[in-house]
Order: sequence, then structure tokens, then C-alpha cells
Amino acid sequence: MRLPLLLVICWLLPPATMLEEDSPLGCVPRRSVTYHGDNANLFREEGVFNYSTMLLREDVGLLMLGAREAVYALDLNNISKKVSSVKWEVTQQQEKKCGIKRDNLKMECKNYIRILHKVEDDKMYVCGTNAFDPECDYMSYKDGKLTLENKTEDGKGKCPFDPHQRYASLMFEKNLYSATSTNFLGLEPVLTRSTPVTIRSEFKTSWLHEPTFVSMADMPESETSAEGDDDKVYLFFREIAVECDCYNRLVVSRVARVCKGDLGGQRTLQKKWTSFMKARMDCPVLESQLPYIIQDAYRWCDPQQSWKECLFYAVFTPQKTSDLSAVCAYCASDISRVFAEGKYKTPVTIGTSVVKWVMYSGDVPVPRPGACINNEARNAGIADTLDLPDPTLQFIKLRPLMDQAIQPVGQKPLLVRRGAAFSRIVVTQVQAADGKKHNVMFIGTEEGTILKAVNYNGEMFIIEEVQLFQAPEPIKILKFSNVTGQLYAGSDYGVAQMPLATCERSSSCMSCVLARDPYCGWDKAVGKCVRLSSSQREIIQSVMEGDASFCPKADPVKRPNESIWPGGNLKLHCPSPSNLAKTTWERDGAALTAVPHLQFLRDGLLILNASHSDAGRYRCLSVEHSKSGTFTTTVAEYQVSIGPTGSGKGSFILPEARRDGPSVTGLQVVIGLLVVCLLALLTWNFYKGHLPLPWNCRKKSEQSQEQGDLKCGDAQRSALTEDKPLVSVTSITREEAALYAPDENDHPNVNLPSLQFIDDE
Ligand SMILES: *[C@@H]1O[C@H](CO)[C@@H](O)[C@H](O)[C@H]1NC(C)=O
Ligand SMILES: *[C@@H]1O[C@H](CO)[C@@H](O)[C@H](O)[C@H]1NC(C)=O
Ligand SMILES: *[C@@H]1O[C@H](CO)[C@@H](O)[C@H](O)[C@H]1NC(C)=O
Ligand SMILES: *[C@@H]1O[C@H](CO)[C@@H](O)[C@H](O)[C@H]1NC(C)=O
Repeated sequence: MRLPLLLVICWLLPPATMLEEDSPLGCVPRRSVTYHGDNANLFREEGVFNYSTMLLREDVGLLMLGAREAVYALDLNNISKKVSSVKWEVTQQQEKKCGIKRDNLKMECKNYIRILHKVEDDKMYVCGTNAFDPECDYMSYKDGKLTLENKTEDGKGKCPFDPHQRYASLMFEKNLYSATSTNFLGLEPVLTRSTPVTIRSEFKTSWLHEPTFVSMADMPESETSAEGDDDKVYLFFREIAVECDCYNRLVVSRVARVCKGDLGGQRTLQKKWTSFMKARMDCPVLESQLPYIIQDAYRWCDPQQSWKECLFYAVFTPQKTSDLSAVCAYCASDISRVFAEGKYKTPVTIGTSVVKWVMYSGDVPVPRPGACINNEARNAGIADTLDLPDPTLQFIKLRPLMDQAIQPVGQKPLLVRRGAAFSRIVVTQVQAADGKKHNVMFIGTEEGTILKAVNYNGEMFIIEEVQLFQAPEPIKILKFSNVTGQLYAGSDYGVAQMPLATCERSSSCMSCVLARDPYCGWDKAVGKCVRLSSSQREIIQSVMEGDASFCPKADPVKRPNESIWPGGNLKLHCPSPSNLAKTTWERDGAALTAVPHLQFLRDGLLILNASHSDAGRYRCLSVEHSKSGTFTTTVAEYQVSIGPTGSGKGSFILPEARRDGPSVTGLQVVIGLLVVCLLALLTWNFYKGHLPLPWNCRKKSEQSQEQGDLKCGDAQRSALTEDKPLVSVTSITREEAALYAPDENDHPNVNLPSLQFIDDE
């Protein structure tokens, strides 16, 4: 047989088998929504690109949008409506000068808007890369009009030079925090605060080593703090690990934090952070040898609870070629505790030159290096960081890295998925019909889709994947407004606004309930799948179990007549309502099995070379398993007749397959090859260990049972576990975790040797 054909078939198979194999719940989105103008409100302007900066102005009902050389004010309720805009273009002179410095980078020699923050009610702060010469300006919004004030300020250290470089920024209590690099080569990375006094990080690889900044968040840790602690700003990034003795450069994910009240040191660390501390963040994906790297982090807090219950949801992608992405969640209290109580790493020189980073076990100066000024320090006469003693400052200057790595809630990812790489994440909470609250994750991907997923008591369920943009372009920014209840996603080519749920996509009660979308339920009175918030009536919903047995009997489907000539081909359509459902066919009430002339397709049935025995009543059934049972619905019915009476109403396809003999044999050969390919693929997958992964998504391990509601308390117990090896991922048991627990244990000072001993038992 021809080899190219074989190759083509094998190459086409993987995506098909992923869907066709018994799709495990959770790993495959239950519904794939292809691009449609109704999926979202869109905005883009001719000739303008790179819509990747956003500021939600819920106070004035606007979405401020930064693009290349322009800022827009869009209606927050319908971003297709432009309210105002302002151009901020580089001059020809600037562009020319930049072009000389950087060959072939004409496109980069523009002004890419990168920073947009609110400073006062009618004022905003905006910065752009400005042809590799970053500048900032104030912008006002008055009487429906945006105006730049032309009070340009130097943007160095606030805004990146290179538009391709990732950065992070935050306006916290009118102070701008930025993580970017301070020269046009993209070197000299810094974390700065521009006001009231400019403070920055040290230019040392032990502080920041070729970092890629990802995001920032503030945390009100002074709230109800018995120790009189300060508020913090957290920075998420990835960088080259200094602590790894590996043969080549290894990238690790990090979280760093600084204190709001930091003013720098008096002599040591003058105008530098005295509170810059960082730790590794792990997101242990099964079988991965290299650590996964962070792409985005989102802070989610319950307004009714203390900051300690806040969670950081982060998306991770692999370092080397693999198409698995993951989401891990971290408790704010776990992160805070590692910095407040954990051990430090220290560099030691081995031999003459090799530097190794190991746990520091000597004396630690007082006040604790890197700590914010608290009551204890104040009582010792230290009013601010300028009063900190030199030993404390010297210590932290040399050792900003913590020994412990931060582990996710449940010690493992909430979601692992094969497919388009995750790029951004937003999380919101919703109360389901049974009164239970669920955190819903909206994940942007590199292919312009948004995944909507919920973790139901440790079971991951992807409700749907929606294609937002026509072309598969990466989602570069994702925001959520709790006032409009809408998501805003930006890419290089446009911006989209999407509701949190489009319940109408489910047209039957069964599909509405099996979708397990906490936002939607079946309203019996109107016979529609509706938003919970929009109905006062009783609603059928079963998010935890997917139990559709309370659904009323569905109306019978229409049964169109199809006719076909003897020897002809006919396709009967039956689009599957769910990626998790299997479709089966019946003829006159008897189940059909695949034979050479009856081909089961993903979206229908193909009758080849029809004969009189093919006439009858065809019924397509969708069979979907959920936790509470198996639910069957009739998707389509057809009355098929054979004979000259038909007038070509049936869809005649593949006419060449009608010829007898050789071509049918050819088809059989192709099917045979497909089977061989499938078997080879399955074997390969088992061999590579790919296949066990999906069922990990579905089945709950004992641990994950407790991780359902993502309570921070549980994870706290294991937050201070020993530093795990960087490269191989091991798992700790609950018993082990409990041993390390600092506060719920009688023996808080368990040391490593004794643990080793217990481990050996
Ligand atoms: C949003 O605004 C556009 C342009 O004014 C309009 O065509 C569209 O119908 C609006 N969409 C919604 C959902 O209101
Ligand atoms: C700033 O400059 C632009 C372009 O020159 C001009 O349109 C705008 O009115 C100026 N803004 C102010 C506040 O003067
Ligand atoms: C801007 O958008 C264009 C697509 O028009 C893309 O090729 C380019 O990489 C983008 N630049 C940046 C800095 O994102
Ligand atoms: C939205 O979130 C903010 C905090 O981020 C909160 O202060 C506000 O009350 C929330 N608004 C609504 C309508 O939930």
C-alpha cells in the first residue's frame, strides 16, 4: 500500500482518537463551541493591532483599552461601542532613530501601550514603549472624551522598552509597582516602586536571573494582624534557577513579595528593597521531569473572609515540547507563611568556583531579614526600614531566596489538559441552585479559546471551550468585571467580551443538566435552559452529579423522509450534543453495528452502496454517562426508503465508492490500515504513559476528596514541607505532611534525619 497515505492517516488519527476513545469526563471539554459572531461582542479598529492592555473603569462604565499607538474608551456593557479614543504615536524622528539602533525591527519602533492605571477619579496613568524609549503620561476622561495631558515622564523602570517582553505592574494606594527591565537590551530586570521614594531591586542574579514577569497582586496582610504586619505586593515570574546543579539552564516559577512600607536601607540597600524575598512555586504535573513554568496568576478572594483564605490560581505550561497545560491553586496564607517562617537558602562555594545553594542553618539576625516592620520591631525602636540594622540587611541582600518551595493546594494541579497551551486565567465564584458555592475557572489559550472549568470535589469538569476569535490567535489579556459579570479578552487582532454563561446553548433539559454549568438550569415552566440569576422559578440543576433523571420527557423529534437509489450513498446527520456522549444508531428499533457499507461518523451515519435492506426508520441516540447514571436522548430520526421514487433528496456523496469490486476492497484496506494505526497509537500512548493521565482527571484520589472546596486550612499543614528536589517530583503523604505541620503538632522541630527514619519505616 502507498506509504504517504498511511502516514497521512496516522498523522490525522491522534486528534480523532482523543475524541473517539471513551472520552474520560473532565479532560475533554463537554462542549466545543466553534467561532460564531454571537459568542462575544467584538471590537477592533482597522489598522490597529496588539490589544493587550486593559483597565476596567466600572465607576464610569468603561473599558480602557491600550493597543499599538492608541488608547480606547469602550462601553463596558458592550465593547463594540467606542466612546472615545486617543492616538499616541511616535514621531518620525523617534522611529528613525529607533530603526537605526535596531535593524529589522520597524514594527517594534512604535508606541505599544503597556501601563494603564487609575490615579484619581478622572485621571489615569498611561505608559508606552515609545520606540524603545518608554514614556508615561496622564490621561483624563471628561465629558465623554479621552485626552492625553502631554506631561510626559520618563518610563524607564516602569514600562518595558521591548514590546515583546513580558512585564507586570500594579497601582496600589497610588503607588506604581512595576516589574520590567531598565534598558533597551532587555537586560537589568527590576522590581520598582516609583513613589513616594523610588525603590528598586538589586541587579544581582541571586535576586532576578533573566526573569519573565507574569503578574502582580496586592495582599492586605495588615488587616487584623496581631503582629502589626504590613500589606504586601506579590510578584509572579519565572527565571533561571540559581539553586539547581543541573547541566544546563533550568527555568523555575517564582513568587516574590515586598512590603508596602519599605523605604530601603540607610547605608546597605539604600533605595533598594529590604523586604524582597522569593520562593519557588511548584505545580507538579505527573511524570514531568522538568518543572512547569508559570504563565499567569489570578488572585481570587472571598470578600466575606480574611486575606488568608485568598487563593492564587496560576496557569502553567511545560518547558519542553509537550502539549499538557496545568492549573494550580495556592493559598495566600501558605505563601505568606513560607516568607514569614521558612528557612533561607544560602550560597556556598565548593572548591574554588562552584557555587551551590543550600539551606541556611546558622543564626538568623533579628529583626528577621526580609520581614516587614511589625510591632516587635517598632518596640525595639525600629520605626521604618531605614532603621534596620546592618546584619539584617546584609543577610537578605545575599539571601533573598527561601529554602522551601510553595506547594499547590492538594499538592497537585487542579486541572491538567492536553491541547492548546494555557495563557491566562480568571476565576469567579457562583452559587449553584443547591446553595453551594463553586469557583469557576475561565482559561484563555494560545489558540484564542476560553475554557470554562469547575473542580467538583476533586473531579475536574470542563464545561465548554469557546472559540472567541475567528483566527486561532493567543489570548494575551483576560479580565473579569464583577459589576457587568462579563469577561474581556484581548489578542493582537481584537478584543472580545463574553458572558460567564450562555445557557441557551443547551436546547434540551438533559443537555442543560448534563452540562453541569453552575450558572444554568432548566426552567420547566418555559422549557428553556436559563441563567439561575434570571429566574425566580424552580430550576432543574445537578452540578455535582449530573443527574438528569428529573428532566421531563423530551418532545419527539421530527422525522424527515430520505430516499436513495439502490447502490447510492446517503449521509444521515446526527451532530453529537456533547463530546462526552457516544452516538448509536437504530434501524426499526434494532441496534446497528458497523459493517463495511454502514459507516459511523462523528456527526452522522454514512450508508454506502445502498440496497433494499437499508430501508427503514433510523434513529440516532446520544448516550452520555454521568456520575449518577447513563442518559439517552434521541437526537435525530429519519425515514429512509430505497427506490426510484426518490428524487435525489438524499445527499449523494463519494460517487466513486459506488463502483463495485476494487474500490470497496480499497476502502477495506484503508479501514484495516486505520485499525493498525490506532493500535500502534494506543500502544505508543500506553508505552509513553500518556493514557493513564485522563483517568487521573476523572477519578478522585483520596487526597483530592478534601480539595474540593479548596479550603486553605488543609494545605497549610503541608506548606512548610522540606524542599523537594527540583527535578524529580515526589509526593508526600498526609502523614508526612502532618509531621512537618508547625502549629498542629506537638513537636514542631522535626528535623530531616528523623523524618528520613520515619520515611524508611
Ligand atoms: C453592541 O453594540 C453594537 C454596535 O453598536 C450593536 O450592533 C450590537 O447589537 C450590540 N450588542 C449587544 C449585545 O447589545
Ligand atoms: C496633547 O497633544 C495632542 C497632540 O498634539 C493634542 O491633541 C492634545 O490636545 C494635547 N493635550 C493637551 C491637554 O494639551
Ligand atoms: C502585534 O501584532 C502583530 C500582529 O499584527 C504581531 O505580529 C506582533 O507580534 C504583535 N506585537 C507584539 C509586541 O505583541
Ligand atoms: C466587586 O469586587 C470588589 C472588590 O474587588 C468589591 O469591592 C465589590 O463590592 C464587588 N462588586 C460586586 C457588585 O460584587
